Amino acid sequence: MKKKVFAANWKLFKGPQETKQYFENFLISSDDHEIVFFPPALCIAQALQCVHGSRLQIGVQNISDQAEGALTGENSARTAQEMGCTTVLIGHSERRQLFGESLELISKKMKYAQSLGLKIILCVGESSEERESNRTTEVLKVQMETALSKASSEGLIIAYEPVWAIGTGKTATPQMANETQGFIRGWLDQNKFSNVPILYGGSVKPENAKDLISQPFIYGFLVGGASLNPESFAQICQCS
Ligand code: PGA
Repeated sequence: MKKKVFAANWKLFKGPQETKQYFENFLISSDDHEIVFFPPALCIAQALQCVHGSRLQIGVQNISDQAEGALTGENSARTAQEMGCTTVLIGHSERRQLFGESLELISKKMKYAQSLGLKIILCVGESSEERESNRTTEVLKVQMETALSKASSEGLIIAYEPVWAIGTGKTATPQMANETQGFIRGWLDQNKFSNVPILYGGSVKPENAKDLISQPFIYGFLVGGASLNPESFAQICQCS
């Protein structure tokens, strides 16, 4: 059986000093599971230094779809890879909503990251209006179709993150998350992505992790808020 995946998205929290303290207090090894941290880009070097010699992985929260160029403020995937990052987060709802990332741009980023051989966590998810108007599966299908049209399953992970559950404290019930992830599983299986794991994200915390991970279609978590505390995130990683 494949290892479960636990990903920590620190967003724009923590500086180098806090990063160092965090890893002094994150005391589990990752032999049983795959654990990857996404610190802010300016803390990646520090994080890589902290996890050196362990199996903990570091990823980058955002990349440009271009190799290089006059692109002030962007992150180069090639540089992140050269530094030692294994994984890229693509399509997070904050990037889609706050930074206006289009389906087309997400598809380009997917293509570029895969051309470098980086692992990818592709985030998909519906807003509360979309769920209330029964458009959840339609929205997820469009997000997957566009992002994955030229992608291969190599190194690919999907994170289902309902937008209404991100940072709100409102978790999808285990049944609701599992049902939606069952739809995603079906779509992936029909489209040559049958070995791609699906994570759940959205207000995951130590208190709800066990119930969520016991669902058949939930293969790990992408955690925001609760990953900022090393003890909480360690508890989540040990929930199964
Ligand atoms: P949250 O964030 O756990 O704070 O809801 C999840 C995410 O944004 O990936």
